[in-house]
Amino acid sequence: MTQTTTSDASPAAVPATSPTPGSPAGQAEEPRTDVVGRPLPDFRDPAPLASHGPARIVAMCNQKGGVGKTTTTINLGAALAEYGRRVLLVDFDPQGAASVGVGVSPHDLDLSVYNLLMERDVGFADVLQPTNIEGLDVLPANIDLSAAEVQLVGEVARESVLARALRPALDDYDVILVDCQPSLGLLTVNALTAAHGVLIPLECEFFALRGVALLVETIEKVRDRLNPALEIDGILPTMYDSRTLHSREVVARVHEAFGDTLLHTVIGRTVKFPDASVAAEPITNYAPTHAGAAAYRQLARELVARGDAA
Ligand SMILES: Nc1ncnc2c1ncn2[C@@H]1O[C@H](COP(=O)(O)OP(=O)(O)O)[C@@H](O)[C@H]1O
Ligand SMILES: [Mg+2]
Repeated sequence: MTQTTTSDASPAAVPATSPTPGSPAGQAEEPRTDVVGRPLPDFRDPAPLASHGPARIVAMCNQKGGVGKTTTTINLGAALAEYGRRVLLVDFDPQGAASVGVGVSPHDLDLSVYNLLMERDVGFADVLQPTNIEGLDVLPANIDLSAAEVQLVGEVARESVLARALRPALDDYDVILVDCQPSLGLLTVNALTAAHGVLIPLECEFFALRGVALLVETIEKVRDRLNPALEIDGILPTMYDSRTLHSREVVARVHEAFGDTLLHTVIGRTVKFPDASVAAEPITNYAPTHAGAAAYRQLARELVARGDAA
């Protein structure tokens, strides 16, 4: 028998251009199109970076819970790190799910994002934790952060506390992803004030569209009053089920309403995501050749191609 030194776990095992048999998106046909019928560009592997920074800050934002913000933060971050980007995840949800998802236990933290926001003598380097993924670091959070929402109200320039805290990190990273909590409160406004762009994960479910108008309104207010350069980088459909008409209809409606703010990349519904969270690993590590991992790599390439990530 021939000896096999397999490298089947490498990203190259799932190039976007190869027709993946049995892929949920079923995009094996000749002219490749996205789920709303637009031609699907062949997103190239990003060119290696000779040096790092300044970082682009992207807030993962949707006031609805359970839509894939944390899953997207972790897996997009890991995919960008695979492409040689230096990535910082900011867990900005007192639930601490992004921290747990990259293997940091929120209960054992001496210092967390809370301390970074509230204590002037705590800097980002004091709170920073490495992860098992090369190029991926995290500023972890835990339930302490829930107090910040109230305590920040009395602070001077209360909306720009996160922006100030992240300033010293900008030179060390290419991308900073902020995992927001499911609300449009002061913490989320801080994330929007710090951010260059917002990515909106949207569950492919009918009522999901309702909240988007309110979210866009909030983003526009922050842009008018606090952060004139803030952009909506894209709307990312998540938990897409290609077998249902419903999923396709939701994405078609998003396209009608928001045009090319709708990304080409769509994240399919698969139990591999909850499985990977339980394993406290990004899917790119947990199931590197799975379609879910390929989808987040494609998202990384699409964002780089759009200029929304380094
Ligand atoms: N594409 C997907 N397919 C199936 N389950 C998913 C998918 N994305 C996320 N999930 C699961 O849905 C739940 C909510 O996702 P999460 O990323 O935590 O949402 P949010 O941060 O917006 O609250 C989690 O259990 C997660 O594992
Ligand atoms: Mg979350």
